[in-house]
Amino acid sequence: GAAVEIDIAGMQPDEMRMVEWRGKPVWVVRRTPEQVAELSKIDGELADPDSLRDPAQFTPPYAQNQWRSIKPEYLVVVGICTHLGCSPTAKFESGAQPSLPNNWPGGFLCPCHGSTFDMAGRVFKNKPAPDNMEVPPHMYLSDTKILVG
Ligand code: FES
Repeated sequence: GAAVEIDIAGMQPDEMRMVEWRGKPVWVVRRTPEQVAELSKIDGELADPDSLRDPAQFTPPYAQNQWRSIKPEYLVVVGICTHLGCSPTAKFESGAQPSLPNNWPGGFLCPCHGSTFDMAGRVFKNKPAPDNMEVPPHMYLSDTKILVG
């Protein structure tokens, strides 16, 4: 399938933009500095913190780092749950939701069977989803444009 561009000019922290690539939703999320810092603190709560499972499918080599991304503040991820393919909901705020873990630092919640993912799309332990969300092949064309595919 054809590669698609995502314009990230002017994105604010906590903002998400979406494009469709090969019939899949691809999200770009600009993480806050606090969310970036949190990524190094929650390894123990994650099923595959270093994205070692099936990296060829889920995590390109340039995203095999604690951010799962090329630039720490920008996450690029396929917005599909690795359990049965529902689309998770972005939950950037902590607290309010009883279905979320304590001290939820933000991330993604799958409405179908309750899998939760962190702000790098890494699945929490003991959830139905077996794997981290997929980071699609992508590159920066400039500071404000990402090419997916
Ligand atoms: Fe997401 Fe089942 S499809 S938890």
